[in-house]
Amino acid sequence: MQKEMIIVLDFGGQYNQLIARRVRECNVYAEVHPYTLDLEKIKAMNPKGIIFTGGPNSVYDPSSPIYDKAIFDIGVPILGICYGSQLVAHLLDGKVETAPVSEYGYTETTVDRSSILFKDVEEKTITWMSHTDYISEVPEGFVRTAYTDVCPIAAMECPERKFYATQFHPEVMHTKEGQKMLRNFVYDVCGCKGDWQMGSFVEETIKSIREKVGDGKVLCALSGGVDSSVAAVLLSKAIGKQLTCVFVDHGLLRKNEGDEVEAVFGPEGPYELNFIRVNAQQRYYDKLKGVTEPEEKRKIIGEEFIRVFEEEAKKIGSVDFLVQGTIYPDVIESGLGKSAVIKSHHNVGGLPDVVDFKEIIEPLRMLFKDEVRKAGLELGIPEYLVYRQPFPGPGLGIRIIGEVTEEKVRIVQDADAIYREEIAKAGLDKGLGQYFAGLTNMRSVGVMGDFRTYDYAVALRAVNTSDFMTAECAEIPYEVLFKVTSRIINEVKGVNRVMYDLTSKPPGTIEFE
Ligand code: XMP
Repeated sequence: MQKEMIIVLDFGGQYNQLIARRVRECNVYAEVHPYTLDLEKIKAMNPKGIIFTGGPNSVYDPSSPIYDKAIFDIGVPILGICYGSQLVAHLLDGKVETAPVSEYGYTETTVDRSSILFKDVEEKTITWMSHTDYISEVPEGFVRTAYTDVCPIAAMECPERKFYATQFHPEVMHTKEGQKMLRNFVYDVCGCKGDWQMGSFVEETIKSIREKVGDGKVLCALSGGVDSSVAAVLLSKAIGKQLTCVFVDHGLLRKNEGDEVEAVFGPEGPYELNFIRVNAQQRYYDKLKGVTEPEEKRKIIGEEFIRVFEEEAKKIGSVDFLVQGTIYPDVIESGLGKSAVIKSHHNVGGLPDVVDFKEIIEPLRMLFKDEVRKAGLELGIPEYLVYRQPFPGPGLGIRIIGEVTEEKVRIVQDADAIYREEIAKAGLDKGLGQYFAGLTNMRSVGVMGDFRTYDYAVALRAVNTSDFMTAECAEIPYEVLFKVTSRIINEVKGVNRVMYDLTSKPPGTIEFE
C-alpha cells in the first residue's frame, strides 16, 4: 500500500481529524493516534513527519498530556499546532505562559516568507487563532517566523532539525493559506511525493481482499447508503459471486429507493454479486402498529432488522467473512476511548452476533467520508448514489411523528420526493447539508375547492452543517418554498398544510423525530 505516512498525534484538540483530512487532501496519507502512542511504535511506523495537534490544556500544568522528549531525537520532522506548538517550546526548554491577551478568531499575521513553511504565503496573511497561552521565548536553536499584534511568537522553527510550530491552526479553512502551509510541510520539509491516490487505494484494496478471502464466502448487509454501497462494490470487483448482499427493504425508505438500490445491485445492474432483496415492508408496519414513542420505534426497527437478517443468514448458511462499512472517524473515535461520542443508534448494532462467520472485513476503515465518496466515483458508482444525503437507519419511521402507517409513509415519501425535485431544479441541492420532508402528527382544517378538509401538515427541513453535530436552518428562497408547498398540497393526498422548520441544532436535532 502507500509508503508515505504522516502521524497526527492527538492531544485532545477539536480539529484532530481535520488535520489528517487536510494532509490527505495533499495526497499524503495521515493517521490520527492518541498522544499515548508509544515512541517505539511511532518509529516502527516509519513516518515521514509528525504533527502535534492542539488541545485544551496548558503545558505547564503537570497533569497535561505531554510526550517523551526523545521524540525529537528520532530524526523525523515535527510540526506543532497550537497546544502542539507550545509543547514543542516547553519540551525543548523555551517558555510558555498565559498570554496577557487571549486571541480568538481571524487574526492578521505577519510571516517570514523565507521560511519553507511559508513559501508562497503572503507576508500579511489571515490565520485562525484560539489560545490563552503563548510562547514567550523560543527554545535554543529556534527562530521566530511569524507574529501578530498580540502574539509575539505566532510561529517558530528550527530548520536544521526540521521542527516547526504555529500558534494558529493551519488546518481550518479560516486560515486563508493554511492548506499551502501544510502542503509546504509535508512536501518541502518532510520530502513526501504524494503517493496517497484514490485510484491506487482502490486497486490495492481489491488485491488484498482477493488474497484475504481466497475462495471464501462473504456476506454484506447493504443499505443503499454510501458506505455500504462502496464496500459492496469493492468486494464485488474483488471476488464477484463469492459475495452475497442482503438488502432489507423495511418499507421506510424514500420514494422508489428500494427499486433504485435493486436496479444498481440486482441482477439487471452492472455488478457481479448475489443480491437478495427482502421485502419486509408489511412485517415492519405490523410491528410498528400503535407505537408512537420515537426511541421505541427505533428499537423495534433495529431489532426487526436483526431478525430479518438472521433469517436470511441462516438460509445462506455459514460464511467466512462479514463486511462492515466502518469508516475512519469511527475508528479514531473508538481508538481514543471516545466512542460515547458516536451516536450508537446510528449504527446497526448486534449484527455480528446473529451471523455465523469467521472474520470481519472493513475495507473502508482507513477512509474519511469524502474519501469514501472519491473511492465510489473511482469504482464507477453513479453520482446520485455517491453523493446521497445521510439517511437514518430507521428511515422514514422516525420522520413520521406518532404512529407509522402505510398511508403516512406514502404521504411523506411523496412530499419528500417533490421537495427534493424542486430543490434540485432550483440548483440548491449541492449547497445544502441535508434536506427532507417530515410528517407532523397534526391534522387541521382546510378548504379545498368548496370542501372542508381535515388533513396532515408536512414539515420541510433544510440545514447547513459541516459535521452534523451542529446545524443551522438553511435559507431557502421563498419562491422555492411556495412552489414546493403548492405542489405538495395539490399532488399529495392527505396534506393540507406545509410548514418550514426554522430550528437549529442545538436545541433541535437535524432529524424531524
Ligand atoms: P440528528 O437528528 O441526531 O442527526 O441531529 C445527525 C445526523 O445523523 C443522521 N442520523 C442517522 N444516521 N442512522 C444513521 O445512519 C440513524 O439512526 C440516524 N439518526 C440520525 C441524521 O440524518 C443526521 O444527518
